[in-house]
Amino acid sequence: MSKPVPVSYIESRQKRLSWLDDQTDLFRVIDGEGDGYPNVYVDQMGDVILVSTMDEAVPQNLLQEWQTMGCAVFHKTLEQDVKRPPMQILGPNIDSVFEAKEQGVKFKIDLNAGYSQGIFLDQRLHRQKVRDLLKPGQTLLNTFAYTGAFSVYGALAGAQTTTLDLAQPCLDWAKENMELNGIDPKTQYFCKGDTLHWLKRFEKQGRQFDGIVLDPPTFSRDDKGNVFRVERDYGKLVALASRCLAPKGWILCTCNCKKLSHGAFKSMVREGMPFASLSSDPMPPEFTGEDYLKRVWAVSRA
Ligand SMILES: C[S@@+](CC[C@H](N)C(=O)[O-])C[C@H]1O[C@@H](n2cnc3c(N)ncnc32)[C@H](O)[C@@H]1O
Repeated sequence: MSKPVPVSYIESRQKRLSWLDDQTDLFRVIDGEGDGYPNVYVDQMGDVILVSTMDEAVPQNLLQEWQTMGCAVFHKTLEQDVKRPPMQILGPNIDSVFEAKEQGVKFKIDLNAGYSQGIFLDQRLHRQKVRDLLKPGQTLLNTFAYTGAFSVYGALAGAQTTTLDLAQPCLDWAKENMELNGIDPKTQYFCKGDTLHWLKRFEKQGRQFDGIVLDPPTFSRDDKGNVFRVERDYGKLVALASRCLAPKGWILCTCNCKKLSHGAFKSMVREGMPFASLSSDPMPPEFTGEDYLKRVWAVSRA
């Protein structure tokens, strides 16, 4: 198969806009090799362009295009050991904190927040499906929740959400995201701590959820120093979560561990929930490059 020829930014953006609704200004515009730019990823975040590269090199033709457009451009490097916020390389000075929207849902974006700016764009269709699956009054448990993007979609569907993360700043950000969308965070639950500990606690309490999102980092350490590794422990995580699942409930099993094959990931989900019905959806079409996101919907038959 021939490699895609590098497209212009404006062309690529126009193509994406024709796929998306007009209530979305958070989306991937250039997805590496899939758009002819190996190791170059460009995201539209509100009025800001965020370009991520493996090293310092940003393609000249893109820089020239952005210069003529006069927009604010930030750059971040994806080197393993470099975890610093993006740096502005072009355009007018802007506030590092602003609001942007995806499918009509608002999110706080913070360019200085660290390595991630508040939302993982590759989960767009999963968030949409979570909103579609949940009925008013049902319950959603969003583990490893980060800024609570799945919870916001769930709450907008009328579900009672529980947002769980190890980091208090993430839970605070999730509350802000709720408020941006007219949801009073006091009407929702927030749990600080380790997902595995909380799942055991929920099981003991007999708490059950209609939907559960499991999207852990590849590697994590709980507050007692115990290590969780996706390649080793995902099956155990699914098994624990399945014990808190309501009859006919579903679990969205996902992670972005590139080392893991789709087959190995599915086997771990199967190991954790042997009798579930399993399926996967494609990644959002704007992700034209590597199919890296591991994703399985596990639906309980009982
Ligand atoms: C990959 S991000 C999750 C992204 C999120 N699902 C989303 O779609 O926005 C991982 C999150 O897991 C949290 N985390 C890491 N280890 C954890 C643990 N043991 N228990 C709960 N949360 C944890 C981190 O603080 C971080 O917010």
